[in-house]
Amino acid sequence: MDAEFFHLRYTRAVTLVELLRAAEGVWAQWEEVSQGVEDLEELEAARVRILGRKGSLTQLFSALRDLSPAERAEAGKILNDLKERIESSLVVKREALAKRTREGRLARERYDFSLPGKWRPLGKLHPLTQVRLEIEEIFLRLGFDVASGPETETEYYNFEALNIGPDHPARDEWDSFYLGDKVLLRTHTSPVQIRVMKERQPPVRIICPGRCYRRDNPDATHSPVFHQVELLWVEKGLTFAHLKWVIGEFVRAFFGPGYEMRFSADFFPFTEPSAQVHIRKKGTERWLEIMGAGMVHPRVLEEVGYDPKEVTGFAFGLGIERMAMLRYGIEDIRLFWQNDLRFLSQF
Ligand code: DAH
Repeated sequence: MDAEFFHLRYTRAVTLVELLRAAEGVWAQWEEVSQGVEDLEELEAARVRILGRKGSLTQLFSALRDLSPAERAEAGKILNDLKERIESSLVVKREALAKRTREGRLARERYDFSLPGKWRPLGKLHPLTQVRLEIEEIFLRLGFDVASGPETETEYYNFEALNIGPDHPARDEWDSFYLGDKVLLRTHTSPVQIRVMKERQPPVRIICPGRCYRRDNPDATHSPVFHQVELLWVEKGLTFAHLKWVIGEFVRAFFGPGYEMRFSADFFPFTEPSAQVHIRKKGTERWLEIMGAGMVHPRVLEEVGYDPKEVTGFAFGLGIERMAMLRYGIEDIRLFWQNDLRFLSQF
């Protein structure tokens, strides 16, 4: 029909009768091309053939100009009606196709809910990590920063700056892992005290959790790799009373009420006086050591360029494994490293 109409149009002016006949043909053509469409794409192609820029109905509209004004008005109305019919038919077909594809998809994608699911076990943080995070949280609440330092240290930071003399047993090759002449795996987190104090001016209020290494044969209470949390507070006017308050707050927050604390004299080269802190559940017999602590030795303050007559400070170091063992009643430190899920999943 397109070809026939073209022929008319370009050979001579179109008459009203011819144009109306052609319009009937357009409806027939629409019915034909839109009937078998399978999807929205095909429907669109059909629409373009009739209503597109070069579509058959569009061509009839341009042929209107060959008619006299009176005929043009009449034919124009008829063509507009035809266009509306085609457009509403298009909407109906489009809706039907959309529904069909939707239903088809639902049918194809039906799930079988009776199939067994895939079991994906949820991981957990290692108990030592949980305990570390909990300790960090307690001290963050008390206004401490979390600092860190390298696990390979020089003798200077690990010993000398902490007033640990050359004859101290920790200096011995048999007690520490040396990586070179003056470099070793840190034996405690205390060297971070020095690193932080050299970088900052008082007041300094930090904790530093981290891994430490000693040449210990593994047994129920020893491991060559272990974790500590160091604490350091340096400021004008700090006394041993502040130290006791901070540790008391920590014990209450970590172990809960119902524990008592005991301080006894100890010795560390970098603190003076030094103390060992024990706790005990009220009503029980056994005291459990939780940390070493003390007032920062004046020589340590001098070493980092602080004036011990101006500022004082206190520090402590506690073992994370020990905290976790006390908290959960774990008897053997080696359990932490065996990666046995029967153990780990309990926490
Ligand atoms: N660094 C000591 C150790 O590993 C623990 C310690 C004791 C740290 C007293 C301190 C302290 O900060 O004041 O045994």
